[in-house]
Amino acid sequence: MSNYMPLEVSFVKGSGCYLTDTKGEQYLDALSGVGVVGLGHCHPDIVAALQTQAEKLFHTSNWYHIQHQETLAKKLCQLANMDAVFFGNSGAEANEAAIKIARLYGHQNNIDNPIILTAKQSFHGRTMATLSATGSPKLQRGFAPLVDKFIHIDFDDIDALKKHQHNRNIVAVMLEPIQGESGIIIPATDYLNKVQNICQTNHWLFILDEVQTGIGRTGKLFAHEYNNITPDILTLAKALGNGVPIGACLAKGKAADLFQPGTHGSTFGGNPLVCKTALAVLEVIEKDNILTHVVEIGNYLSSELNKKLQYSNKVVEIRAKGLMIAIELNQNCAHLLQMALKDNLLINITGRSIRLLPPLIINQTQANVLIDKIVGLVEGL
Ligand SMILES: Cc1ncc(COP(=O)(O)O)c(C=O)c1O
Repeated sequence: MSNYMPLEVSFVKGSGCYLTDTKGEQYLDALSGVGVVGLGHCHPDIVAALQTQAEKLFHTSNWYHIQHQETLAKKLCQLANMDAVFFGNSGAEANEAAIKIARLYGHQNNIDNPIILTAKQSFHGRTMATLSATGSPKLQRGFAPLVDKFIHIDFDDIDALKKHQHNRNIVAVMLEPIQGESGIIIPATDYLNKVQNICQTNHWLFILDEVQTGIGRTGKLFAHEYNNITPDILTLAKALGNGVPIGACLAKGKAADLFQPGTHGSTFGGNPLVCKTALAVLEVIEKDNILTHVVEIGNYLSSELNKKLQYSNKVVEIRAKGLMIAIELNQNCAHLLQMALKDNLLINITGRSIRLLPPLIINQTQANVLIDKIVGLVEGL
């Protein structure tokens, strides 16, 4: 179907931060398959985990215990201070699970028409419920009727949230800690803390969508660790499998027990192959001190970009947390995607921003190449 508009390039091989196309040309990947291949392409430990598991067992079914799923669930719960996990195959599915849990929570509290507050310019996925949760009329166009009921509030505006405190049908607030798809929008440092306080006062579930920010992208395993908070529900996907499809909806306390046998499911979700791979991802992050590296290299990248672009009259601002980086320009820049490709660089353009999500393992030499290429692109505008 025509729902994608692929660039005129196709890759056949990947290694670390580099991809090779059908003609043998190498490209620096500063997008990581949209925040997925955090440990780089074909990381040897991940390849080994996949190969070893593939020789033993791919798939059984959730009708039986799955050892690696249980181990991964325990590990994730321990890392995120959560009580239980549901595994699906994507970010949208992780968020669907979160939305269903919020509804069960509402009905348990005699709320017949539960409402979830989400943010304008948010992105939570493309299934009907997650598209309805997404705060983008542009993405929703043509798909009415949407799933009831989500109310979209201004992001990073605590008063906008407070205005809904009287509404007894609200059951949850669902946010990205940093809005990724709308161009790396970073809220005030205490915004999430204030949101959590309001949720606690009103007995609303606090759902954090860390599909893009999670698994080390910001320099913490989960972005909400910067706020020293624990949400009631946390969703993950993308980098958790480093390219193997997995989604996870983690829940704590009152949110953790609402799914009962038969209330939700997935055929593929949490199978031995993906769970063994995700376990290997978490092991590498720990073993190779990836989080410290992300903080250091992220700071280096953003400070060098700031330094080299400080006199540019085309840059509005540079927003960065770890290796989530956006360079907002004062003009349309969609054509930079093609120009970058010609320069053997893979980036994303979101609105008027260049968005960079390089592999977490990017080293200083590669970072310097990236900086030079970006500065060249901006100067050539
Ligand atoms: C914050 C966030 N949530 C959900 C999704 C949807 O994930 P998926 O495409 O795996 O369904 C994305 C994808 O970009 C995302 O960035």
